[in-house]
Order: sequence, then C-alpha cells, then structure tokens
Amino acid sequence: MVMICCIGAGYVGGPTMAVIAIKCPSIEVVVVDISKPRIDAWNSDTLPIYEPGLDDVVKACRGKNLFFTTDVEKHVAEADIIFVSVNTPTKTRGLGAGKAADLTYWESAARMIADVSKSDKIIVEKSTVPVKTAEAIASGVRCASSHP
Ligand SMILES: NC(=O)c1ccc[n+]([C@@H]2O[C@H](COP(=O)([O-])OP(=O)(O)OC[C@H]3O[C@@H](n4cnc5c(N)ncnc54)[C@H](O)[C@@H]3O)[C@@H](O)[C@H]2O)c1
Repeated sequence: MVMICCIGAGYVGGPTMAVIAIKCPSIEVVVVDISKPRIDAWNSDTLPIYEPGLDDVVKACRGKNLFFTTDVEKHVAEADIIFVSVNTPTKTRGLGAGKAADLTYWESAARMIADVSKSDKIIVEKSTVPVKTAEAIASGVRCASSHP
C-alpha cells in the first residue's frame, strides 16, 4: 500500500490530505504535527478548520485510511511520499523582512526527514517557498543522508 505522510496539520495540510484520502481509498494518508492541540482537534468532533463539506469527508475516512497523529518521525520514516505543509510566515526581521518567507520550520522539517529516512522518498513542497528551495533542500537532504 502506498503511504503518504503530510507534515503540518494546518489549513493546507488537513483539507488537502482529507480529499486525497477520500479520492484514493487504497492509499494510507497520515497527517502529522508537532502541535498536540491541533492533532487532538482533527481527531475530535470539532475540526480546527471550517471548509464546506470537510466534516463529512473527514468522518468518512478518519480511522480507515486517514490518520492524524503527533508521531511525526515514525510516519515520515514509513512514508513513500511526504508532503511538507508547515508554516512559512513572512520574516519580521533580517534580510527580506516584511517580504521574504521565514523558512525556519521548512528547514527543520527537511532536516528531520533526512535524519529519519531509511528509504527513497518523494518530497512535495506544499508550503509557500521561494523559487529554488527544492534544489537547496534536495542537496541538504542528500548530504545529510550520506553521513550516517
Ligand atoms: N492557508 C492558506 O490559505 C494558504 C494558501 C496558500 C499557501 N499557504 C502556505 O501553505 C503553508 C502552510 O500554511 P497553513 O495555513 O496550513 O499553516 P498553518 O500554520 O495552519 O499550519 C502549519 C502547521 O505546521 C506545523 N508544523 C510546523 N513545523 C512542523 C514540524 N517541523 N513538524 C511537524 N509539524 C510542524 C504547525 O504546528 C502547524 O500546525 C504555508 O507556507 C502557507 O504560506 C497557505
């Protein structure tokens, strides 16, 4: 079975993964987040996000092929495809303040993927990131995985 892991259970990650899960019942979709309150809300009757129809989609898949958990590293390690939809807020200080995206969370997620991965992965950028971030992250991930 193909396994998808999405890092970031926010406005982008949650609904996107819910729709993938309902459209692709043969794929296991796990949404992971470091925020326990957010994951608890996705597992409750009151979802953290309102989108028309989202409640019904989540109810139809949750516990079947759609899961929400804080067990980030386990599911990243097991996944075939990893979506990264962590927050990239606009920088408030330093170079590009007020304009550029702060990639701190993205970089931390990419480092963690490199650290825990033992098999090939497809990494999908869902977060808003500057052009060429993929190349920068790819070389970082390759470099980290070649140094056990
Ligand atoms: N919300 C939108 O309408 C929208 C539209 C287009 C693009 N985007 C972009 O998509 C990205 C995500 O946006 P969002 O609105 O879903 O953000 P969000 O803040 O709602 O969710 C991001 C989640 O990522 C989690 N997270 C951060 N670092 C993590 C890590 N290392 N491991 C696990 N979880 C981690 C946070 O706890 C948070 O719950 C951003 O780059 C944003 O700019 C958002």
